Amino acid sequence: MKVTVVGAGAVGATCADNIARKELCQELVLLDIKEGLAEGKAQDMMQTATLLGFDTKITGSTNDYSKTAGSSVVVITSGIPRKPGMTREDLIGTNAGIVKGVCENILKYSPEAIIIVISNPMDTMTYLALQSTGLPKNRIIGMGGILDSSRFKYQISQRLTCSPSDLNAVVIGGHGDTTMIPLIRFATWNSVPVSNFLSHDEQTAIVNDTMVGGATLTKLIGTSAWYAPGAAGAALVEAIVRDEKKLFTCCVALDGEYGQKDICLGVPVIIGKNGWEQIVEFGLNDDEQAKFNASADAVRSMNDVLATLA
Ligand code: LAC
Repeated sequence: MKVTVVGAGAVGATCADNIARKELCQELVLLDIKEGLAEGKAQDMMQTATLLGFDTKITGSTNDYSKTAGSSVVVITSGIPRKPGMTREDLIGTNAGIVKGVCENILKYSPEAIIIVISNPMDTMTYLALQSTGLPKNRIIGMGGILDSSRFKYQISQRLTCSPSDLNAVVIGGHGDTTMIPLIRFATWNSVPVSNFLSHDEQTAIVNDTMVGGATLTKLIGTSAWYAPGAAGAALVEAIVRDEKKLFTCCVALDGEYGQKDICLGVPVIIGKNGWEQIVEFGLNDDEQAKFNASADAVRSMNDVLATLA
């Protein structure tokens, strides 16, 4: 089994690091356009192998896609990250060209690959990957909701002073500061609704803090986050290569599900060896569905910008 991570920046390298530590594949290729960067990070990670006890072979490549040949899963993290004050949507002009080119190169050498898109604005980049490659929709997965759900659980855990691992909570909709929808109504602490423990104001604060979770980190760090995004990418790779049938929120092509079509948006899906295998309907109430529709409208208008870039 071979896995490729494209982009050896902070998110790509962290994702690769997690994949190697978990030995999710025999061979891992890290590729970047910047001369020597991927080779250097691959060597650095390989030098942790005896310390951490893993056997995954990591190869670095400066834009030589032949090294990625035969990959089963490819994670795309390429593109510029946001700086403080920027939204994910501000990145579209630069990142669209990069993501399209990466997809073409990847499929030349790995025509059967399942593609995970992390580059921002992620919902639109996932849509672009789907449109430009013409791949079966199950093989294109945008990574956003799994990360946002993890941030949501973190925020709840801070207010409840409990372990995030004891929580169940999902974020659906777009992966944007104003388009994501943390579904607090469905959130539980080991099956007990968190609304049993939190006031209305506390719940609102949790939802708001979750929505700006990425922006908060960008402000603190000076660039966008990488530990949780990298770990979330690796968790998706794990669910695919181990055929785990995990229920994660991912950005996938909708064809009438959740009342939307011709769009890629975050919904709960089953992840296994075929990519995303099934969309799970959560039974949204009117307010949640209205938010989902508004999120779709915002993402759709961003998708429309793609046509003007060609
Ligand atoms: C974030 C980036 C990966 O939310 O979109 O941190």
